[in-house]
Parts: sequence; structure tokens; C-alpha cells
Amino acid sequence: MPRGAGKKVVMALDKKVGDTLNAQINKELYSAYLYLTFADYYEEEGLEGFANWYEIQAQEERDHALIFRNYLHENGCKVKLLAIAQPDKEFSSYLEPLEAALEHEKYVTSLINDIYAAALEAHDYRAQKFLGWFIDEQLEEEDNADTMITNMKLFGGDPKGLYDLDQACAARVYTVPSPLAGK
Ligand code: FEO
Repeated sequence: MPRGAGKKVVMALDKKVGDTLNAQINKELYSAYLYLTFADYYEEEGLEGFANWYEIQAQEERDHALIFRNYLHENGCKVKLLAIAQPDKEFSSYLEPLEAALEHEKYVTSLINDIYAAALEAHDYRAQKFLGWFIDEQLEEEDNADTMITNMKLFGGDPKGLYDLDQACAARVYTVPSPLAGK
């Protein structure tokens, strides 16, 4: 078989769409890294439920990276993995990581919007449809992050309230996101 004969023949993605999709793999992996630092902090503080919540969050972020990677492969694009930045977060209160999470998710939403804008400009309807899942996901991510902050402010100052919050976070279980189900 001639070299390259096994490669997929698919219409090439617009360069900006392809580049931003590829960059998003890195952003999602960074998100996983960031949330692992949150899990570490809560683990060290003895809040194992919160640690569980952010371990699962980190797992979801890795999944998001895989979804972008798979999409690029399905479209015959080369994936280029970039260096992941080191999250250097030091926290001085239980609330701080929660506020950092909301801030970070808003940033990720802006990145998804930028990719969508590039897909709109390129008349790439397939990418727009693909990104629809992430647009919905970001609404959920921001809402979850906001609820965590509200709950901590309302109940976290009281030992019993904090214990209950930690127990609720401990109950979170990982589920495979629908774009990866069956892959
Ligand atoms: Fe991949 Fe938390 O967004």
C-alpha cells in the first residue's frame, strides 16, 4: 500500500477553526490539571467529599479534551499536543477554589464562543453542531460552580453545614459524557 494511502479523505477544516479546536484540547487538559490542584487542597484539608467532586471534575475535563481530539481525527486533521501550564494555586479559604472554578468556567465559555464564532465565519455547519454540546455543557458547568459558591457561603461557616456539604460532594459519581459513550 503506498505511503499515506490509509489516510482519511475528508474536507479540510478551515485553518482558524482547526487551530482553535486543537488549542482547546490543551485548555481542557489544563482544566483537568487545575481541578486536580483543587482536589489536592481539599484532600489536605480533610474535606474528602470536595476532593472527590474535583477529582471527578478533572476526569470530565480530560474527557472534554478527548472529545475535541476525536473530532479532529474524524475530520482528518492532525492533532498537535501542546505543553500544559502549571497551575500555581495557593488557597487560604474553602471558598477560594470555588470562586476560581467559576471564573475559570466563564473563561472556558469564552473560548468555546470564540471557536463557534470561527466556525460561523467559515460556514462550518458541522463544527457548529459539534460545539452545541459544549455550549450546553458550559451552562451546566457555570451553574454548578455558582451553586457550590452559594452553598459554601450559606452553610460552610458552620461545622455541621460544612460536613453536610462535604457528604453531598462525596456522593458525586463519574458518568461518561454522551459524545464519548460507546467510543
Ligand atoms: Fe471543559 Fe469545565 O469545561
